[in-house]
Amino acid sequence: MKVPFNDLNRIHKPIKKTVMSKLDHTIDKSEFILSNSVLDFEKSFAKYTNSKYAISCSSGTDAIELILRALNIGHGDEVIIPSNTFIATALAVTRTGAKPIFTDNNNFYLIDVEKIVENISNKTKAIIGVHLYGQQADNVEIKKICKENGLFYIEDSAQAHGSTFKENSPGKYGVAAAYSFYPGKNLGAWGDGGAITTNNGKLAEKLISIRNWGSKKKYIHDEIGFNSRLNTLQAIVLSEKLNYIDDWNKQRNKVANLYLSELIEFENLVLPETFYLNYHTWHLFVIRVPNRNNFMSFMNESGVELGIHYPIPIHNQKAYKYLKIKSNELKNSENFSKKIVSLPIFPLMTSKELDYTIHKIKDYFMKK
Ligand SMILES: Cc1ncc(COP(=O)(O)O)c(C=O)c1O
Repeated sequence: MKVPFNDLNRIHKPIKKTVMSKLDHTIDKSEFILSNSVLDFEKSFAKYTNSKYAISCSSGTDAIELILRALNIGHGDEVIIPSNTFIATALAVTRTGAKPIFTDNNNFYLIDVEKIVENISNKTKAIIGVHLYGQQADNVEIKKICKENGLFYIEDSAQAHGSTFKENSPGKYGVAAAYSFYPGKNLGAWGDGGAITTNNGKLAEKLISIRNWGSKKKYIHDEIGFNSRLNTLQAIVLSEKLNYIDDWNKQRNKVANLYLSELIEFENLVLPETFYLNYHTWHLFVIRVPNRNNFMSFMNESGVELGIHYPIPIHNQKAYKYLKIKSNELKNSENFSKKIVSLPIFPLMTSKELDYTIHKIKDYFMKK
């Protein structure tokens, strides 16, 4: 039996016809840039996330960079980010000219709040909390630290569509939340895409301008901006998928709950924990195992596809070697990166696939 890590075809089947017919209409009307479909999606996404404004853009990486730039963060500034995240969080900071300050993660794979304070300097302008794997970081504490130190709190929500913390969507605690609609995300487009949600009207106005060449009115450019707009096809796909996302997240929870209850018996297998007050949306189900290569080979030979998120901590990537960060400063990220494995979890995963995956994991650990 083969178990894929993810299978987007399954969730695309029911929406394909509607999307294609709406796209047909778009082509006939030549509505390609900042069309009504884009504006309609922004309205729906703002409603879905309970935010006053949603501003779409080209990618999640751009969404983070746009927020930083709109807050005038750049050369000479420092931005605190977790070391265990996808590299895009760091790249967005670097692209503005600011310096990312890597901070270790806790056992929930989220930024360790106690370590944040040690990293604040007179150059720090913002903290980016990453809502990794589908659950939100410690918003209450991070917001408190930001308030005490006059810093902006930015929420990287690229992996947390539909998650809640104290029943709030991402963006409630920070000045803004950045989303990615990369195809494999819980809410994914058919190409790249991103969005920013915020309750701050002034910030929203600035973001609308800088994602569109610094222009609010055609050929009038008040500031330096980007070409970073969500295209119409992606807006159509995303609007359609918004009708399904809550159900898909529930299905991910069902899969996660079965993994959690069935795999509890193995001492050597560290299961993920849900951070308090979170509704976890399980973008990824990450376990830790010793001898990862052996485990992965066994599962691979059994036909179960796995992932690693992420195999090399960002500060050890060649791109960031110039920062000369010592390994022992980021112990959890270093240790976890050698042991983490992501199990298949996706909507419409069949119970046969799930049972087979669990059965094979049990087989492996019982032999150990
Ligand atoms: C945590 C995190 N931040 C930022 C990004 C960047 O998003 P994108 O790929 O849309 O640029 C991603 C995903 O790729 C991500 O997982």
